[in-house]
Amino acid sequence: MNIKEINTKPFDDQRPGTSGLRKQVTVFQQPHYLENFVQSIFDCLEEKTGRTLVLGGDGRYYNRTAIQTILKMAAANGFGKVLVGAGGLLSTPAVSAVIRHHEAFGGIILSASHNPGGPDGDFGIKYNISNGGPAPEKLTEAIYARTCELSHYRVLQADDLELDQLGEQSLGNMTVEVIDPVKDYAELMTHLFDFGRIKALFDSGLFQMVFDAMHAITGPYAKEILENQLGAAAGTVINGEPLEDFGGGHPDPNLAHATELVERLNQSGPHAPNFGAASDGDGDRNMVLGRRFFVTPSDSLAILAANVHRLPGYPQGLAGVARSMPTSMAVDRVAERLGVDCYETPTGWKFFGNLLDNRKINLCGEESFGTGSDHVREKDGLWAVLFWLNLIAMRQQSVEDIVREHWCLYGRNYYTRHDYEAVEQDSADSLMKNLRAKITELAGQSFGEYEVQLADDFQYTDPVDKSVSEQQGIRILFTNGARIVYRLSGTGTQGATLRVYIERFEPEASLHDLDTQATLAQLIKMADEIAGIKQFTGRDAPTVIT
Ligand code: G1P
Ligand code: ZN
Repeated sequence: MNIKEINTKPFDDQRPGTSGLRKQVTVFQQPHYLENFVQSIFDCLEEKTGRTLVLGGDGRYYNRTAIQTILKMAAANGFGKVLVGAGGLLSTPAVSAVIRHHEAFGGIILSASHNPGGPDGDFGIKYNISNGGPAPEKLTEAIYARTCELSHYRVLQADDLELDQLGEQSLGNMTVEVIDPVKDYAELMTHLFDFGRIKALFDSGLFQMVFDAMHAITGPYAKEILENQLGAAAGTVINGEPLEDFGGGHPDPNLAHATELVERLNQSGPHAPNFGAASDGDGDRNMVLGRRFFVTPSDSLAILAANVHRLPGYPQGLAGVARSMPTSMAVDRVAERLGVDCYETPTGWKFFGNLLDNRKINLCGEESFGTGSDHVREKDGLWAVLFWLNLIAMRQQSVEDIVREHWCLYGRNYYTRHDYEAVEQDSADSLMKNLRAKITELAGQSFGEYEVQLADDFQYTDPVDKSVSEQQGIRILFTNGARIVYRLSGTGTQGATLRVYIERFEPEASLHDLDTQATLAQLIKMADEIAGIKQFTGRDAPTVIT
């Protein structure tokens, strides 16, 4: 074996964010940049010799190059085997499923999720541990510390491997097995949902769906499961071929970016689709649409929680649920009625891992188009879509009727998120600092009908390992159930992104048809006044509203 030790110097910008290390492709293309980070991951893993790693990515530009490098470094660092998705492809939830199914030591996912791809786009890398979930903060911080002191990395001198044919090959003393990226994941889905019932729904000829894969990783998964296994009409999956630049699009499943899907669902007439869905770059996000009807991710989580007992894969029903702090409080009401615990965690999937592993919860989600369950340790886009399909098939109701019934029973949480993207980092930091200084004086203050019940900088103590995460966002809760939350994004690659989350609760069914932005207008104005958004950012309006 010809292993080379390459001398290197630390980069000072390799601290993982909300979900791994995300940078522009051009940053990753600097000599040693990727290698330094990978070596730092490996250096922080104990007892890895001879163990199995899972490797794959969302197929974006630089995926193939990075896969070859990581394979040679894994061989030089003593791993026994790497399971790699054919063509270097694996969705994020599929990596999680493969790690768990094969009881692997861990996995490396190459993705910048919903960020645009291509030579001028973004790239990313993150490590997942043996439960299939993102590395906890303790490990990501250790990896970061290692990047700050790294002086060399190890790489096997070898030719690139052929990754398009399934099967095993050797790389130094290590085995590389190229696996079907879809198989394990698709198999897992058959145990969770009533495929027979969903198939009958499609076979009835009365139900049509459109799934927008946004030229990202979910295309092959959706085609296999929806069209081949469940009998959805050919052409149900649109933009199904993964492309290195996502066809020039922004692979983020929301109303702003999944425009083709939204247009299709806005059609009228007998052939208009009944159900629409989309997933993001790496397949962990989802958006769900009915005919001319948008389901907010927070409502989707609440509705899944209220219905999980109906599915074959969850005979115990809802064991407990968790949501990230900025996610609307709609699911809290479901948990309360069912008498199960509802946990409020910081933003990012890594905080759900301990709760899932210790069976404190079996369902969790975030307002950022993410929902998931204990079947893997990542959020899972296609899983959420299958859940909705199963629900529609069982209840024989439209998406809109299911949501409206839910609101009638539980009340409606009007909810919006306003993003101010690419703000100057210093201005964003000053805004947050100023807000933090104001927290104590806010308590008890009134703004018209809104009286502040609690204002704090969210802090989370993990109930399992007792680790503490501080400064996870400023939240202002009002006595009538309304709320404003401010935090800075941990996934952006340019400047800072300020996220402002606003919600209010409406119990009255006759008031469930209001326009979201209009009914939240007063709170939106207050959010600006309290934080001085215009003053600090110089912006008159958010860049994106979801
Ligand atoms: C964003 C979302 C967060 C999600 C993460 C990864 O992180 O807000 O909920 O877990 O992407 O998909 P942020 O940019 O806000 O740090
Ligand atoms: Zn994603």
